[in-house]
Order: sequence, then structure tokens, then C-alpha cells
Amino acid sequence: MKDDVGRAADILRAGGLVAFPTETVYGLGADASSATAVARLYAVKGRPADHPVIVHFAGAERAFEWTRSAPGAAQALAAKFWPGPLTLVLKRSARAADFVTGAEDSIGIRVPAHPVAHALLEAFGDGVAAPSANRFGRVSPTTAAHVRADLGGDVDLVLEGGPSEVGIESTIVDLSRGAAVLLRPGRISKEALEAALGAPVALRDESAPRHPGGLERHYAPATPVRLVPPHALDREIAKLGARAAVLAFSRPDERVEYWLRMPRDAEGYARKLYGALRELDAARCDAILVEAPPQEPAWQAVLDRLQRAASGG
Ligand code: TXA
Ligand code: MG
Repeated sequence: MKDDVGRAADILRAGGLVAFPTETVYGLGADASSATAVARLYAVKGRPADHPVIVHFAGAERAFEWTRSAPGAAQALAAKFWPGPLTLVLKRSARAADFVTGAEDSIGIRVPAHPVAHALLEAFGDGVAAPSANRFGRVSPTTAAHVRADLGGDVDLVLEGGPSEVGIESTIVDLSRGAAVLLRPGRISKEALEAALGAPVALRDESAPRHPGGLERHYAPATPVRLVPPHALDREIAKLGARAAVLAFSRPDERVEYWLRMPRDAEGYARKLYGALRELDAARCDAILVEAPPQEPAWQAVLDRLQRAASGG
């Protein structure tokens, strides 16, 4: 593993692409200071050039060199949640070029907790641009096998790190315009952020500048996904029969061949979600029926991803 990390850091220095595990999802990494490396990253992802990418660091001190300032709120969140599944959006410094920020005046920075990610970032020594290691618009990968299935030979090296523990992308908080705004919910909840800040966190205003995490088709399998209230699941299954694939809390129904049973706790559910969607997608049914989780704060991030998957196809 140590040799692989050293080789991965060399590949990044040479302008190559390395997929690596993080605690949220696997990332596709490139040297964030290299225009050509980042251009290749965007080409492989199939991602529009005006979509900003998150830059990853081994520690907060180095991360804040890429921002114009580190306001008290950013320091407080970094101290509480880094390393971990949190991305901070702040005004950028001269270190952050247009090609990583999508020409925005801000930059997204994160210090991941996964030991392999940390070792890679430490060995590389500076910022690594890394979107999720899937093709644009598809479900994020939570294992090295998912990455290989999506990106195959287009990536120079895939580092192994086991299944991602969180399973969904990091919480993103925008601090670049003063008061904190939650751009993307994740394992770290709005309530946890508010407790750490001692101040309210606003939800994203739909009229705010666009960012792809908030855009149309994201996190979507090829098979149409439908969110179904628990009481309506039976009726929907009766309509589709064997042409339905089902993701549910309840026990399998014999009319359905592809049925995955999900955990009743939100963290366990999030951990399994993307792998489950991939598995059901591969069944090539007419629809993936998802028994809707409760509309409760603990389920905020999972509901967000399910709604995107359901509106995405
Ligand atoms: O958990 C994660 O965040 C994973 C792992 C690999 O770290 N990365 C990830 O990256 O999800 P990506 O590129 O798939 O999603 C990045 C999100 C996008 O919604 C993007 O718009 C937002 O971060 N973002 C990045 N920089 C931003 C900025 N300056 N302002 C607003 N949003 C930004
Ligand atoms: Mg992504």
C-alpha cells in the first residue's frame, strides 16, 4: 500500500489521474495547480469546464493557503469536522486558478479523513482536485470496483481503500458570502453545523449562482427511479410485477426478483445507497421503486440524493 501511494503521488506530479478512496465516495484526483492535468480530469469525467471542483488537502493549514482568508466560522468548522466529510466554500486566493474554480471567485476545499486519501495528499504535498470518480451525471462510486467499471482505462491508477464508510458526498457549506449556506447536505447535518457555529445555517437559495451538485441530472442510474410512499409500494409493485426492481425497508415480495432491503438508520442507508442503486440498475428493469424514507432531519442527505436520482433519469 505504501508503495502504491508513492507511485500515485508520482503520477499526480507527472500530470496523471489517480482515483483514490475517501470516507464519502471515491475521488478522481489531479494536481490542482496543473492546467493540463485538470483539463484531462474534466475530459475523462465528461464534465463542463465551468463546473468548479473540490480541492483536497492533507491538513487545514495548507487548505487555507488556497483561500483569501479563513474567517472564524471556517476555523470553527475546520477544527470541529476536519479531517472529515465537510467541504468549505470560501473566497479563493491566487493559488486557486480559474480552471479549478470554474472561474468562480470562490473555491471548495476539503481535508478527507480516509487514511489512504490522507497518505496520498501528504505524499503529494499540495492541493488535489477531485470530483467523484464517476462519469458526469452518474451515481458516485463507493468502491474501487465501481471506479474501474465507470472509468476503466481512462485513469492511470486506482488506489484500493475498501468501501466508503459514509457512502454519499460531503456536506458543502458556503462561507464565501458571509452567513453560512448549506449547498449540499451530507453526513454532517445542518443541525451539527449550527451547533458548531452557534449560528443558523441557511438553506441554498435556488436563485443563487449555479453549482452542479444542485443541477438537473446528477446521481442518476440509467433505469428510471421512483420514490414511492410506503403505503403505495404494494400498488406500484402490482402494476409493474417482475419489471420492477425494489429498494425497501420491508421484506422481499415474491412478485419481485430484484429486491434490496435497506437499513432503518440513515447512516447505514447512506453507506449502502449508491452500491444498491448500481446493483438494481444492472438488473435492467423498467423502474427502480424506492420506498421513501421518513421526512425527518436525520434523513435529509439521503432524501436529497434519492430526489435527485428520481428526477434525474
Ligand atoms: O465527498 C465529496 O465531496 C467528493 C469526494 C471525492 O471528496 N467529491 C465530490 O466532488 O463530490 P464533485 O465534483 O462530484 O462535487 C463537487 C460539488 C459540486 O456540486 C460543485 O459545484 C461544488 O462541489 N463546488 C465546488 N467548488 C465550488 C465553489 N467554489 N462554489 C460552489 N460550489 C462548489
Ligand atoms: Mg459528483
